[in-house]
Amino acid sequence: MKQTVLLTERGYDALDRLLLMHGVKTLFLVCDGSFRFLKIREAVDTLEERLGIRVVRFDRFTPNPDWVSVVKAAAAFREAQTDWILAVGGGSAIDVAKCVRLFGRSALSPGEIPHPAGSGAHLIAMPTTAGTGSEATRFAVVYLDGVKQSVTDDACIPDFVLFDPGAPASLPLCQKKATMLDALCHATESFWSVHSTEESEAYAWQAVRLILLHRDGYLAGTEEGCTGMLRAANLAGKAINITQTTAGHAMCYKLTTLFGIAHGHAAALCDRLLFPWLAARTERLTAAHPEASLRQRLSELAAAYGCTTPGEAAARFVRFVDELDLPAPKAAPEDIPLLCGSVNVERLRNFPVPLAKEEIEAMYREILGIG
Ligand SMILES: [Fe+2]
Repeated sequence: MKQTVLLTERGYDALDRLLLMHGVKTLFLVCDGSFRFLKIREAVDTLEERLGIRVVRFDRFTPNPDWVSVVKAAAAFREAQTDWILAVGGGSAIDVAKCVRLFGRSALSPGEIPHPAGSGAHLIAMPTTAGTGSEATRFAVVYLDGVKQSVTDDACIPDFVLFDPGAPASLPLCQKKATMLDALCHATESFWSVHSTEESEAYAWQAVRLILLHRDGYLAGTEEGCTGMLRAANLAGKAINITQTTAGHAMCYKLTTLFGIAHGHAAALCDRLLFPWLAARTERLTAAHPEASLRQRLSELAAAYGCTTPGEAAARFVRFVDELDLPAPKAAPEDIPLLCGSVNVERLRNFPVPLAKEEIEAMYREILGIG
């Protein structure tokens, strides 16, 4: 699906032009708490006086949004009588906006998620973190009665994406590091996913290159570095939109809920072991996939990391994670069975070599430093 990129080199002119060109009278804004600190706020707050475009704002949702928030957002969207949605925020704001686009035309019940009907609305997304790549995927996550639900539909993919380097530049350093790791894990896992294709590999390749290239500039908050990282996260999102994520993401969710560590950090702690593990098991890879394509993809992955072998690339990945020096989770031995029982079986199947229960347990023990 085609997605047009809008840049902010000249403020928000590109956004103004887009809205004027389409004769937009009302804009439905979905944003999170960070909005009031962003530069775009002024441009949006003055849309009515500058261009006669009314803005209806919806921000009544929490991180990991629940379905009840979507029901409220959809009602506000119908009342606004528009077909233009602007999402500004992290993954949660973008997920709510995706759901408004999918379900926003009909009255919804707080008790069930219907089949997506589509609203025909246009969606512009401005990610404020460079990590999730949510603005590039057909997936939206919402919680129904506390249970995580994934909605999958091509209409989730925003038509326009606005890259504003000032947004990730202003994030706390630990959040910048964790979201960057999320993007790097998306790109890396996409390479070895059993669903990888030439197209996904091309996106993932560029994403890895851009992350390695722009790491320092992004962490220092330069405009070039932050734009590069926003592009990288978007490309990594495009890659997993095709391949989905694999074992690293299958294993990481309970690490975030149990120990309160950021999602990208948790995924990286898993991939930090999985990458060298896979690189050292080419025989098992060949046995599981006698065709050459996946082995070839591992060689391409090595090249993306600027290395000649998958083992060297894995070592580079480990160094990349370790140099960020994020605090390790504190765990107790009784956490291990909880973690082992939490692995997402469906995602695990995207990993190219079957992982035995004991191997997963050994990895969790190593991640948590429990012998
Ligand atoms: Fe992720």
